[in-house]
Amino acid sequence: MPLFGKKDETKVDFSRLPQHVAIIMDGNGRWAKGRGLPRTAGHAVGAETFRTIATYCREIGIRYLTVYAFSTENWKRPMEEVSAIMGLLKKYLMEAIADMEKEKVRFCFFGDLSPLTPELRRLCIETQERSAGYAGCQVNICLNYGGRDEILRAARSFAAQCMVGEKTPEALTEEVFSGYLWSAGVPDPDLVIRPSGEERISNFLLWQSAYAEFYFTDVNWPDFSKEELRKALSAYQSRSRRFGGI
Ligand code: FPP
Repeated sequence: MPLFGKKDETKVDFSRLPQHVAIIMDGNGRWAKGRGLPRTAGHAVGAETFRTIATYCREIGIRYLTVYAFSTENWKRPMEEVSAIMGLLKKYLMEAIADMEKEKVRFCFFGDLSPLTPELRRLCIETQERSAGYAGCQVNICLNYGGRDEILRAARSFAAQCMVGEKTPEALTEEVFSGYLWSAGVPDPDLVIRPSGEERISNFLLWQSAYAEFYFTDVNWPDFSKEELRKALSAYQSRSRRFGGI
């Protein structure tokens, strides 16, 4: 269909991509409810969407992708739903391990893995360790993650080192503090995407997204496609990032 002067909102300059894209994968429940399906069906399709988007990010050359898979607050959900999400993660990770050699994707987990089942925890740690040397694309999965929890843990670790004389408070800079977060060594996200019409940060990458550009869309996560990602990238490229300057 000719566009006749209408801006193509999916047009992306692939030579100017954000280095790090972060996504709050929201709207799985509403997507399912709208189709008369159980919420878990939304998570299952959401997991497929994650695979599609992660693959596309790798193909076009996005260096870091961070996704919010399970928050510190998500334990409040019914047990069946929590188990379904954990089951999907397990399935995905087992498949990812099989693909890893081929794709050279590095996986990292941000969050406290200790409340997970020993099997899932082992799978996460194994995936992270086995892919640690891969430099293709880095996928960070936020699991039992909360931004405030992350900042508190970092503050506690630094304070504990001060108590034993290993560090002094004066040594604490923004850069040093970043090194105490789950995301140590990963550049801050350039673009944070939240689908499903919600326009909140919901405890996601609170420290890291200080200068991120935000992109919101009404599309629910299971319907989020490569085209939707291109819209987000195109919107990002139309912004002027000044980082507090003019
Ligand atoms: C938010 O939608 C989504 C979640 C809490 C779970 C996300 C999990 C997956 C996509 C599956 C596993 C992930 C990977 C990385 C394989 P919601 O349930 O809050 O939706 P609602 O707001 O419409 O209720």
